[in-house]
Amino acid sequence: MARGRLITLEGGDGVGKTTQRARIAEALAQAGLSVVTTREPGGTDGAEAIRSLLLNAAEGAWTPATEALLHFAARTDHVARLIEPSLAQGTWVICDRFTDSTMVYQGYARDLGRPAVEAIEQAALGGFRPDLTLILDLPVEEGLRRRRHRGEEADYYERRDAQFQHRLRAGFLDIARREPARCAVVDAAQPDHAVTRDIVGIIQDRLGPL
Ligand code: TMP
Repeated sequence: MARGRLITLEGGDGVGKTTQRARIAEALAQAGLSVVTTREPGGTDGAEAIRSLLLNAAEGAWTPATEALLHFAARTDHVARLIEPSLAQGTWVICDRFTDSTMVYQGYARDLGRPAVEAIEQAALGGFRPDLTLILDLPVEEGLRRRRHRGEEADYYERRDAQFQHRLRAGFLDIARREPARCAVVDAAQPDHAVTRDIVGIIQDRLGPL
């Protein structure tokens, strides 16, 4: 049986990753593939417990290095218990955020630096990387407007100002420039259905016909 593929969705807060995750899963299932959707931090019981340590913490409670280690602790459990077994069974995994979020939030925006995050990644996951990473790109003001509109309760990260969101956006675009074979940037300012159409096109170009 062919191994499944890991597709990750990345981007700043409010770019529409959760909506697109469901839509991609639907498109893949319609094509007859077995699909599981998941998210980070989280996805397994242990990783969800770590998620609450991270997201319920007061501003500045963790150092950037501790945050990065907690995200990778959660991710190691998630990969070992959910992602890798699913791929091995031929199931495609659509994951909302992955290692690139740690690189951007902790490495770039919180100044831990690329080399530190790369070293933790290597120790935690070896060479394990997604098959395809979709970077949903949205102007910062539009992202903030969408989140206000949803009346989302601000969590630890989302209380940050627009300046922080600008650093996130630049960070994700930098990763896309560095790793064009793995990453694709998607214009997330379009209506949802157009974003989905673009994403399905990218999946077919990069991973083969569905
Ligand atoms: P979510 O809002 O997409 O559920 O993600 C929760 C928050 O956690 C989000 O603001 C981004 C942040 N985060 C990191 O800072 N580092 C990471 O490695 C991950 C996966 C998420």
